[in-house]
Amino acid sequence: MKQLTHTELLERDAQYCWHPFTQMQTAAPPLAVVRGEGEFLFDAQGNKYFDAVSSWWVNIHGHSNPTIAKAIAQQALELEHVMFAGVTHPPAVQLAERLVHNAPAPMAKVFYSDNGSTAIEVALKMAFQYWQNKGVAGKSRIVALEGGYHGDTFGAMATGKSSGFYDPFAPWLFHVDFIPTGVCACTEEEALASLDQLLASHGHEVAALLLEPLIQGASGMRFMRAAHVAELCKRCEAAGVLVIFDEVFTGFARTGTLFAAEQVAQFGGQADIICISKGLTGGFMPMAATLTSQAVYDAFLSDQVGHALLHGHSYTANPLGCAAALANLALFDEESTWANIHRIEATHQRWLPALACHPLIENPRVCGTVAAFELKSSHSQYGSSASQWIRQTFLELGIVVRPLGNTVYWVPPYCTEPETLENAYQTLMQVLQRWGSLIAPGPGSELF
Ligand SMILES: Cc1ncc(COP(=O)(O)O)c(C=O)c1O
Repeated sequence: MKQLTHTELLERDAQYCWHPFTQMQTAAPPLAVVRGEGEFLFDAQGNKYFDAVSSWWVNIHGHSNPTIAKAIAQQALELEHVMFAGVTHPPAVQLAERLVHNAPAPMAKVFYSDNGSTAIEVALKMAFQYWQNKGVAGKSRIVALEGGYHGDTFGAMATGKSSGFYDPFAPWLFHVDFIPTGVCACTEEEALASLDQLLASHGHEVAALLLEPLIQGASGMRFMRAAHVAELCKRCEAAGVLVIFDEVFTGFARTGTLFAAEQVAQFGGQADIICISKGLTGGFMPMAATLTSQAVYDAFLSDQVGHALLHGHSYTANPLGCAAALANLALFDEESTWANIHRIEATHQRWLPALACHPLIENPRVCGTVAAFELKSSHSQYGSSASQWIRQTFLELGIVVRPLGNTVYWVPPYCTEPETLENAYQTLMQVLQRWGSLIAPGPGSELF
């Protein structure tokens, strides 16, 4: 492929590309990245940036990780792709086996797809059809948590409606019952009471509860206690409602355990269906999976084709994705990976007191390898001038962040060197100094 100069790259990008979640008229030119290594990205001018958000939370063991890259290359020379209807292949079987063994009970089966949103669509379809196949009529409602984000396809949008991203599509989104998360303005007791009330009046109509366990990511890194999530699950189980965990973000050790579900299980709560994607391939290949219990799977067994899950994608169980995922999971067998995960959490914890008493920071918090906090601001909406300023300022200082309004977070790859994360916190202190002068009363401060 011909090498493009930095200028050519930006000019041709502007001519031909349409970027996700971007107002193309006002957005700053994109970062023109040509190479990645470990926790760093390099632009076309040779500048180096710490990828503090793991490239939208997908990267796990660092960019261009040689173990995963080699596994994909080897698989590509063996079998690049084959349809997965009526066909199977070793990487798909080995990965499914490994996922079932690594996931908490009662996960027993793996249905592959290709991104987080499709993993959610599959889970929703499974939940609706599960009850139909069992002959239970009227289970047509889904309950979700306020502020949750589950992706950008129509079912995922309906269940994430309250996140506020989907206003133009509101007329086409099916009805979903939202209950409070039990963080921010509402207590856990109030959230549980809201679920109890809904289950008492409409439990017989509810097919499933869908939630992001422990962390609501895109709505601003809102943390939930595992004990609270477990309570929600237990109430659903008692009411004959399936529970779907969206672990698209929380999976692959972001919360300190391979799956957030493990922490919920300690309090006696469990899901019937778990959706994973993002970190599944270590950030190399677009791939997802919807894991289910044996009971969910069994409800689709019948002598009628109509009882089967008639859903699939051209690239279902793509062998390259499976090979990447297997290599990614093998790296979790190395002690050093877990030592790094614990070290990242310890660094976040060490900085927490300094952030907690900083006058320009609100609500600093840590869950596993994720640290988040708000910059004091009168603008908290997605894509606000405040969030654009924060992103650009960190970028000038060599760090890629993607604030959610005025919420800033670190979600680093696990290979991140201690010095890199330490420098990121020092850089934050510089950014805060500039932030302080911006929001001080004066011309333009109303924008921040
Ligand atoms: C919790 C959660 N679920 C689902 C999705 C959708 O995943 P994808 O962007 O791969 O469709 C996301 C994406 O950020 C997510 O954070």
